[in-house]
Amino acid sequence: PKVTYIEHDGRRFEVDLPEGWSLMQGALLNGVTGIEGECGGSCGCATCHLYVDEAFVDRLPEIAEAEDEMLDCTVAEREANSRLGCQIKMTADLDGLVVRLPEEQS
Ligand code: FES
Repeated sequence: PKVTYIEHDGRRFEVDLPEGWSLMQGALLNGVTGIEGECGGSCGCATCHLYVDEAFVDRLPEIAEAEDEMLDCTVAEREANSRLGCQIKMTADLDGLVVRLPEEQS
């Protein structure tokens, strides 16, 4: 499934991620610099913060408690469409997903 990452400076990365990969993994392996993923995806750092395009917000799995707590620790302001990239796994249903990255992660 395809996902488009839009960096804070406007650069766009359109990549095809295998199903089951997280948005954080996909960013790191495709040179998207707006995601750090310091904790390796264990929901412990909040450096994979991203903003999900409104059209997709309702299609994502609900925010679990651990993610919710971490989202309160992001460097860039938390918005209604904020999520952690490591907690969102690609599925066929998310094909075409667009996410925007904050100016800074740490
Ligand atoms: Fe650390 Fe997502 S990579 S919380």
